[in-house]
Amino acid sequence: MTKISIISSSVREGRNSHRVALFFKKYLEENNLAEAEILDLAKYNFPLFEERLKYQKSPTEGALDFATRVKSSDGIIIITPEYNGGYPASLKNVIDLLSDEWYHKPVAISTVSEGNFGGAQVIISLQFLLWKIRTLTVPAMFPVPNVTDMFDENGNPTGSSFPEKRLSNFVKELFWCIEAKSRMENVKEG
Ligand SMILES: Cc1cc2nc3c(=O)[nH]c(=O)nc-3n(C[C@H](O)[C@H](O)[C@H](O)COP(=O)(O)O)c2cc1C
Repeated sequence: MTKISIISSSVREGRNSHRVALFFKKYLEENNLAEAEILDLAKYNFPLFEERLKYQKSPTEGALDFATRVKSSDGIIIITPEYNGGYPASLKNVIDLLSDEWYHKPVAISTVSEGNFGGAQVIISLQFLLWKIRTLTVPAMFPVPNVTDMFDENGNPTGSSFPEKRLSNFVKELFWCIEAKSRMENVKEG
């Protein structure tokens, strides 16, 4: 079965974007779309970046675990809050930590905010960063505005206007990229 890792980027006390990570895990699993796991940056509690993992002499278990999970995933969903128009330092910290693990990795981005715009500004800088580190960025977005109105603390959708169509398109595009990558790898091997 397809394996998806969901990176929950906010390490803020009282964070709200983690609700979206919980939602995606449930959505993928309950619909039998994928095996999903959350890579929770608050739990990993990584120190501030000092060097890329591949050059570290004695890497921590946490860093090795994170790298293995990213590498073995077929695709990644990044849940990012928007902080002052950009991504949180916690996310840049782990993107810089890895190198080849990101290569050709299908990555979909869900931006989250408490305001009306759903993190419309952070998508721009994050896409550039992911392009630079050579991921395959998925050409669909899932912005979540007013996050606490849209999801409860357990990641269950609340309210009446859930964007079902946008969600299914977002997930469909991610799976398209995963399939495209897999076919290319089969061509190379065959
Ligand atoms: C340092 C900081 C900067 C923020 N900047 C923005 C912003 O530029 N745009 C926005 O819509 N929300 C902004 N917010 C509010 C977040 O959208 C809100 O905290 C949301 O719940 C997502 O972040 P969280 O997962 O850390 O809770 C900011 C919050 C913090 C803590």
